[in-house]
Amino acid sequence: MPSKNFTFDNIPDLSGKVALVTGANAGIGYITARELARKKAHVFVCARNIEKGQSVVATIKAETGNELIEFLQLDLLSLKNIKEAADKFMARGLGLHMLINNAGIMATPFSLSADGIEAQFATNHIGHFYLTQLLLPALEKSAPSRIVVVSSLAHRALAPGKGIDFENINTNKLSIWARYGQSKLANVLFANELDRRVKDKNIYVNSLHPGVVKSNLMQGPKLSWGRWMAVYTAIQNFFSLSTEDGALTQLYVATSPDIENDNLRGQHFMPIGKLGTMSAKAMDKILAKELWDYSERIIKEKVGE
Ligand SMILES: NC(=O)c1ccc[n+]([C@@H]2O[C@H](COP(=O)([O-])OP(=O)(O)OC[C@H]3O[C@@H](n4cnc5c(N)ncnc54)[C@H](OP(=O)(O)O)[C@@H]3O)[C@@H](O)[C@H]2O)c1
Repeated sequence: MPSKNFTFDNIPDLSGKVALVTGANAGIGYITARELARKKAHVFVCARNIEKGQSVVATIKAETGNELIEFLQLDLLSLKNIKEAADKFMARGLGLHMLINNAGIMATPFSLSADGIEAQFATNHIGHFYLTQLLLPALEKSAPSRIVVVSSLAHRALAPGKGIDFENINTNKLSIWARYGQSKLANVLFANELDRRVKDKNIYVNSLHPGVVKSNLMQGPKLSWGRWMAVYTAIQNFFSLSTEDGALTQLYVATSPDIENDNLRGQHFMPIGKLGTMSAKAMDKILAKELWDYSERIIKEKVGE
């Protein structure tokens, strides 16, 4: 169990702040939304499933007494749906102080999104890339604001040798784990490149590894590998962080005054609430620019923007 540099009690008062959390109906995203709500933030709970999302909104309201919790339907596997969600949010004219790009899937069997993009890359990277672009004006308006990109240690260990295998992103040539590592490396490359681009706008962009956490994320490998993975999961769960502890690092990056006081931007954080290191590939500025251009191109091709 890593030592804690941050606890829920350290989250400052967030009255008047607006936060949007993707994948907030389960796992560490749910805990993140709940604890932001407890400290009085106006929280948008994003989930793809309407029933699950609405039920989580009701639970968070009941648990925290904060009525400023809203559901925003968001399916990262559809660029059209992402645009609709962002338009709905932007139409409110509220501004945005914290965007937490948390939703993710891991090692799922090969499949393509509604737009023909490999599902892990679409959910973990492209969907969040597009969402962030669409929400940037609100983050700019609310500056100093923060963008928190939830990556993984897998960005270091599991990505293909090239880092991002552009030719094979939407093919079945990479293993389920290489596709996950690639998407999580894309998270860190995106955070770093975005930070370089918005530095002057007083927006802080950072990425993180939350720790190995007991959550629904193992559904992917179970779907891919069946019951053997179920046995592995049971063993791994024994050594994993609770979702409460797993959410602490992103809560630290989203809310701690350290971020602005110490000008922590374009950094990678580790559990629990500590400054960490990223892989050499993640620091590659040329690769980051190449990924940025690829992501813009693919979105333009699919939605004409
Ligand atoms: N758990 C770990 O050990 C670990 C380690 C390193 C990094 N992470 C990262 O932490 C983040 C959160 O994972 P978790 O452990 O909390 O897993 P989780 O319990 O499986 O939660 C993932 C969340 O993402 C949502 N999601 C998946 N696909 C989506 C889509 N197409 N559109 C919108 N939302 C979608 C899920 O919604 P549904 O309920 O509808 O599926 C769920 O709310 C992920 O980015 C993951 O890569 C986790």
